[in-house]
Amino acid sequence: MAESNRAYHGDAGRIFAARAGADGLNALHERPAVLTLIGDVDGLDVADLGCGAGHLAAILSTSGARVTGVEGSSALAQIATHAAPAAAIVHHDLDLPLTFLADDSQDGVVCALVIHHLDDRQRFLGEVRRILRPGGWLVLSTTHPTADWGYFGGSYFDERWVTRALGEATMEYRHMTMSTVINEIIDAGFTVERMVEPQPIEAMRALAPERYERLRTDPIFVVVRARADK
Ligand SMILES: C[S@@+](CC[C@H](N)C(=O)[O-])C[C@H]1O[C@@H](n2cnc3c(N)ncnc32)[C@H](O)[C@@H]1O
Repeated sequence: MAESNRAYHGDAGRIFAARAGADGLNALHERPAVLTLIGDVDGLDVADLGCGAGHLAAILSTSGARVTGVEGSSALAQIATHAAPAAAIVHHDLDLPLTFLADDSQDGVVCALVIHHLDDRQRFLGEVRRILRPGGWLVLSTTHPTADWGYFGGSYFDERWVTRALGEATMEYRHMTMSTVINEIIDAGFTVERMVEPQPIEAMRALAPERYERLRTDPIFVVVRARADK
């Protein structure tokens, strides 16, 4: 696969894999909120789109789901294959159709911190709806629009590509308003069931007390659960 998308190629992937492990923002803040909105997955077919290093794929397959993880970085797809041995990990660009996943084949789709990297989010969400069974769920997380606004300044309403450091590497993503995040899901044929702006969990208070206090007042992620109307 030509690696021309915004996936975390090479060093960016390896840096992310290390950071997304045990005690970072992903593990202690965003992932618990995502897992709460996903709920019980025992016996379900679940696609983890943009599965990164396979942290969620490993948890979901250990919890009884049949997981297909899709990842655009070959470095991360390799790491995920080892981290989540029971999951089927596919190296694929999410800006392209998910031809290897049949219509109505999934009970659930999780897309954690990925949608803001994609070129054509409406087409992608259309693919998510296509592969979901009627009534299937989508749990999607993204950066909190006000956190990006606070960091980059300028107009909150100026939707644009922004770049942030990822250790020695960089990542590029789209700053979106909250209404764009929510309305694109609705426009793709979903009913939004729940939206969460996560508060820090107790485990973070002991491990990173300053970060815990900051996250109590400054949201940095938003997580949405939606149902496919079909
Ligand atoms: C912030 S990481 C999140 C990874 C994982 N979902 C998690 O929660 O740990 C974003 C992921 O999206 C992947 N990604 C970005 N653009 C992509 C694309 N066009 N196709 C496939 N994966 C992509 C990156 O390589 C990276 O693994």
